[in-house]
Amino acid sequence: MEIFQAVTTRRSIRKFRPDPVPEGLIREIIEAARWSPSWANTQPWEIWVVVGEPLERFKKANRQRFLDGAIAAPDTPMPEVWPETLKRRYTEIGKRLLTAMEIPREDKEGRLRYAGDTFALFDAPCLLLFCVDRSLAREYAMLDIGAIQQTVCLLAHARGLGSCILAVSARYPELIRETIPIPEEKAVIIGVTLGYPDSEAPINNFTRERAIPDEFTTWVR
Ligand SMILES: Cc1cc2nc3c(=O)[nH]c(=O)nc-3n(C[C@H](O)[C@H](O)[C@H](O)COP(=O)(O)O)c2cc1C
Repeated sequence: MEIFQAVTTRRSIRKFRPDPVPEGLIREIIEAARWSPSWANTQPWEIWVVVGEPLERFKKANRQRFLDGAIAAPDTPMPEVWPETLKRRYTEIGKRLLTAMEIPREDKEGRLRYAGDTFALFDAPCLLLFCVDRSLAREYAMLDIGAIQQTVCLLAHARGLGSCILAVSARYPELIRETIPIPEEKAVIIGVTLGYPDSEAPINNFTRERAIPDEFTTWVR
């Protein structure tokens, strides 16, 4: 797949076919993604690939923890307050997701069910958890994690796989560690799901928007 095409046609996939992702394909993607840039070639990323029974257990437990109303305590705290423009954008994507799922705003139960599905990682057959050692300066290592994550998503797309970067996969790190042997000294940054997309599903097909370049670009000549 041509690179511009890959970048502009990748989208977050939130409904997968049940087919497992072949281990060889996951390995091929990671093998290529290791060529991602990092500060001074430090390559601070560590990836846990979770599939099969441990993933099924984690998806179920993560959904339940959310439905139990547990307070999230991610290793990478999420901001609680966002500027108005950004808030408008995340509210809009939330609306579009619910509309695609035909869940009316006033349907509290439906919304809760949907949120639960999010915490169950949209039932993806593969999860990559990106971690860094706690001894590292986190803000800086995160730049490198962002670079490799996007590379993984694009490579997956080029091989016909869907992906979704999921903050909700890392909301309860202590729960992750109950199922997945990530040592305490590794901070869980975020997870990326992989799987074959259900191409017909409305949740994989709603229209997305982006700011136009002039809104965020300043040219200095
Ligand atoms: C750091 C990060 C965390 C994200 N967490 C979630 C999440 O928890 N749930 C979700 O449905 N999508 C999540 N996404 C996907 C974004 O919603 C998505 O990238 C954005 O809406 C743009 O849509 P696109 O990826 O289809 O282009 C996350 C993306 C990023 C980069």
